[in-house]
Amino acid sequence: MSSARITGTGSYLPERILTNEELSTIVDTSDEWIRERSGIAQRHIAADGETTLDLAEHASRRALEAAGRTAADIDLIVIATTTPDQIFPSTACLLQHRLGNVGAAAFDVQAVCSGFVYALSVADNFIKAGSSRCALVIGAETFSRILNWEDRSTCVLFGDGAGAVVMEASDKPGVMSTHLHADGAHASALHVPAGVSQGYDAVQEGRAFVEMRGSEVFRMAVAKMGEVVEETLAANNLDREALDWLIPHQANIRIIKATAKKLRMGMDKVIVTVDRHGNTSAASIPLALDEAVRTGQLQRGQLFLIEAFGGGFTWGSALIRY
Ligand code: ACO
Repeated sequence: MSSARITGTGSYLPERILTNEELSTIVDTSDEWIRERSGIAQRHIAADGETTLDLAEHASRRALEAAGRTAADIDLIVIATTTPDQIFPSTACLLQHRLGNVGAAAFDVQAVCSGFVYALSVADNFIKAGSSRCALVIGAETFSRILNWEDRSTCVLFGDGAGAVVMEASDKPGVMSTHLHADGAHASALHVPAGVSQGYDAVQEGRAFVEMRGSEVFRMAVAKMGEVVEETLAANNLDREALDWLIPHQANIRIIKATAKKLRMGMDKVIVTVDRHGNTSAASIPLALDEAVRTGQLQRGQLFLIEAFGGGFTWGSALIRY
């Protein structure tokens, strides 16, 4: 059975940077509060008219180039997004056409901040089953569009961006295991209480925004990310020392540090982008992964763990030999 190997990474951030200082002129907050509670100093915000599809396209083209592949080589496109361009078709189908691919399977996955781990797991299973040989997996979000810019408890935390990987069937080791979980009992702790089947009232009245009980999310995120890390190591019969890098979902530096502490990993082995990107939901891990690759931190042959927690609640991890 082939393994699914990451052969190229790419990412894209919108040009516009929104600093904490600037945010403090919009809502009653301060650079000090945001940095202290979340570790975030700035985030990128999509321009008017710039959509999730646009961000996904930039990231995908860079990942394809890095892998030495063209769109025609791709037989599966999976996009993790909470902020699709349209109700349908999926952003993956729109992207397929933009890239000039015809015939690949293409669909979106919705698991909020855990979306990229879910999408990568789907592609891994397609490749292991022999249903795909070359997959494009993307996390892309314009989360700024579902933020209430009058709610200081949420709008300071998120940003926009996209990251992508090309995954190919290989005889060399790649994805070692993936672990996905969800518990819908906590839906109201972190949600956008509006949607298609509930009618458009909330959308039309400008109420389709993220609502969050922050401290509840924080506690569960630390607990579940710790658990899934243990589960991943046990499933692979590995000690924590075997890990070269931890590439966590970038929600909050305090959550990241708590997970690293549980793993007894020094922060010098943890990729951190939350200070510059904020929480970009499904895009955060592939953005951090691409940075780790392009800065030369993550080297071929090294072992890294990705892990995420988000709305649903959903959480998951993947252990990957790069
Ligand atoms: N600026 C200034 N003050 C603020 C702000 C702000 N932006 N937001 C809230 N406050 C105030 C609150 O009103 C409160 O004031 P009070 O004590 O007078 O009532 C005070 O700051 C403390 O608020 P808390 O919510 O208790 O602050 P906490 O230390 O829990 O930090 C935070 C809040 C950063 C949201 C934290 O709970 C958190 O990170 N939770 C995880 C949320 C998260 O990451 N969600 C992303 C999606 S899930 C995921 O990706 C993991």
